[in-house]
Amino acid sequence: MATQIDTVKAKLDIVNIVQEYVPSLKHTGRNYFGLCPFHGEKTPSFSVNPELQIYKCFGCGEGGDVISFLQKVEGLEFREALQMAAEKAGVELETTGKGYSKKDAEKKERALSAHSLAQQYYNYILTKHASGKKGLDYAVEKRKLSLKIIEKYQLGFAPYGYNNLKNFLIKKGYKENELVEMGLLASKNGRIYDKFRARLMHPLHSMQGAVIGFSGRTIDPESKGPKYLNSPETVIYHKKQEVYGGFQAKESMRKNRFVILVEGNIDVVSSAKVGVENIVCPLGTALTPEQLKLLKRYVTEIYFCFDTDSAGQKALLRSLELTEKAGLTGKAIYLGEYKDADELIVATQTKIGNQSEEWRSRI
Ligand code: UTP
Ligand code: MN
Repeated sequence: MATQIDTVKAKLDIVNIVQEYVPSLKHTGRNYFGLCPFHGEKTPSFSVNPELQIYKCFGCGEGGDVISFLQKVEGLEFREALQMAAEKAGVELETTGKGYSKKDAEKKERALSAHSLAQQYYNYILTKHASGKKGLDYAVEKRKLSLKIIEKYQLGFAPYGYNNLKNFLIKKGYKENELVEMGLLASKNGRIYDKFRARLMHPLHSMQGAVIGFSGRTIDPESKGPKYLNSPETVIYHKKQEVYGGFQAKESMRKNRFVILVEGNIDVVSSAKVGVENIVCPLGTALTPEQLKLLKRYVTEIYFCFDTDSAGQKALLRSLELTEKAGLTGKAIYLGEYKDADELIVATQTKIGNQSEEWRSRI
């Protein structure tokens, strides 16, 4: 392991890597200086030493090597940061470490590529295909989403019918059974069919932007299924460890040092639509300590914005306690007469330009 780390580091220049995240980085004497990506500042106190291949911020004290930089800036575990660095360096890591078999890795790879294809398929249907018309009407007319935000969150539409995604992915070389295991198809009474039907699809991304699951909202008020249908636990999706919208919120979280935590996916996209992008929600679970740990890599404060009903208020108290335990500061945004953030935004946004002064002032 130690030699692998050295090999990776030897092939990378920390200056190039940091530059991707710190565009302000400039050569000054023997070092480089720029605005620190880990705390808000107006004058550069973040330095990179190319000889020693290390970085140090004289403002907030953060420092380390290229791998710890990626770990911190991307919010990764050590192993994940090493993997990312290895990819950048063009080094193949040995994956025979304990608890990490080649078979597992392959399974994950296949699940990730199937999810990526499914996302592209759903997005194509929503934005370009006639069978997505109802979904697009729902998203744009009913939910007041913009095409821009549909692209940013890579939303899609799972069309009516039982075999659409199934046929598409079988043609791409996937087997029915593995697609059931991945949570993309359902299996009942010996029949295998599309799990998501007639739903506005929210892909769930890892912090690095890979599609690892879906949450689909029914567009059919008469439908018997749940309002939101979410991916089950799979080799690539662990709901307690992920938040919806985290990938899209990353930059804004880092800049603002706080994140707004809402209950629903629609609250997240609706807020991003009016320019407030440091916003996430848990999916199909109450807030967990693991999710807080993830967010702590980017922010110091959490602004909760839960539904104003009594269940929401109960969840708020519980979440504030967890937040304090996690070493973060918790606050609450007051919604007044509105039920949730989306309702407030839709009621107060400007017709043109998608702005909501009201939402900003509540925050
Ligand atoms: P809500 O029922 O409060 O819905 O669920 P919402 O967010 O206001 O959704 P819209 O505006 O009616 O579309 C809050 C969140 O709980 C999860 C979803 O993530 C949802 O956004 N949920 C809800 C489910 O996972 N399954 C459900 O059946 C309902
Ligand atoms: Mn709502």
